[in-house]
Amino acid sequence: MGRVTEPTFTTTPELADLLAAARDVDGVDPLNEEAHRALAAGPVTAMTSHSEDGALSGYAHLHQGTAQLVVHPEHRNRGIGTRLAGDLIAGGYQLWSFGALPAAGRVAEKLDLHSARELLIMGRDLTDLPAPTPLPDGIIIRGFTPADEARIIEINAAAFAHHPEQGAMDAADFAERCAQSWFRPEGLLVAERDGEVVGFHWTKRRDDTEGEVYVIGVDPRAHGGGVGKALLWAGLHHLADRGLCRVLLWVEGDQQAAVALYERSGFGVLNRDIVWSGAAR
Ligand SMILES: CC(C)(COP(=O)(O)OP(=O)(O)OC[C@H]1O[C@@H](n2cnc3c(N)ncnc32)[C@H](O)[C@@H]1OP(=O)(O)O)[C@@H](O)C(=O)NCCC(=O)NCCS
Repeated sequence: MGRVTEPTFTTTPELADLLAAARDVDGVDPLNEEAHRALAAGPVTAMTSHSEDGALSGYAHLHQGTAQLVVHPEHRNRGIGTRLAGDLIAGGYQLWSFGALPAAGRVAEKLDLHSARELLIMGRDLTDLPAPTPLPDGIIIRGFTPADEARIIEINAAAFAHHPEQGAMDAADFAERCAQSWFRPEGLLVAERDGEVVGFHWTKRRDDTEGEVYVIGVDPRAHGGGVGKALLWAGLHHLADRGLCRVLLWVEGDQQAAVALYERSGFGVLNRDIVWSGAAR
């Protein structure tokens, strides 16, 4: 197949069933947050496959050269995933594999794909946090107010210049994230020095027991001064104070400074997401 570029697919109850069935069987969501938001917002660019009786057997969500592919559990191990993945790779797409599931690894092996990007999923308990330590000199940490928005977007773009999805957050994306049901202004911690915002830690409540380090961004001009670490611990205490027991985060595997900070802060690697690519190594 060639590239599918038109956003013509609108979500259906059948797709919702397929996604829920895959999540139940795999223990991991086959689509990321961006895909869910896009499906909820309107037509998306997608590729689908159907069985002979017309049932939806496979779905690939296409976004910026990357596909999120899932086969309905009742239709697996019949070659559908390998065929769709092969078509997508031939069409120039890379493939997300959330949770690096063994069957996805097998498909990648059969198609001779290589890992182009790896996100580590790290976690730690919130029940054994050390007592808060003093903040770096001159730093205040407080909850978000709407006046912080422009600086947060600016810091995010500078701090995540290397990151394809996060670095692209603009005012509309920010507003969309703030409109999500999990958003709480007091969970978006802001670090300030001399009245200027220098960093933020956006925490998220995933459910009644689990929180997430959603994004930590520090102005590159303030790097190395302990602001990131102070924001990390303030966010972990915020989540623990709300009764959550565990916290997760996603970090680029090649961001050594961030991975090392999380390891030193008691996080361990729980799983990984891989982007598979067919392009020459
Ligand atoms: C990965 C996925 C798309 C494969 O779909 P599928 O239609 O079952 O794929 P195929 O039938 O073409 O091939 C599956 C291969 O995985 C193997 N496999 C299945 N379960 C496996 C397991 N638990 N461990 C290892 N290999 C496994 C099958 O034996 C088969 O390999 P084979 O042809 O050598 O026997 C499907 O499992 C899925 O939707 N997973 C969740 C989403 C996901 O991980 N997507 C990433 C795509 S790269």
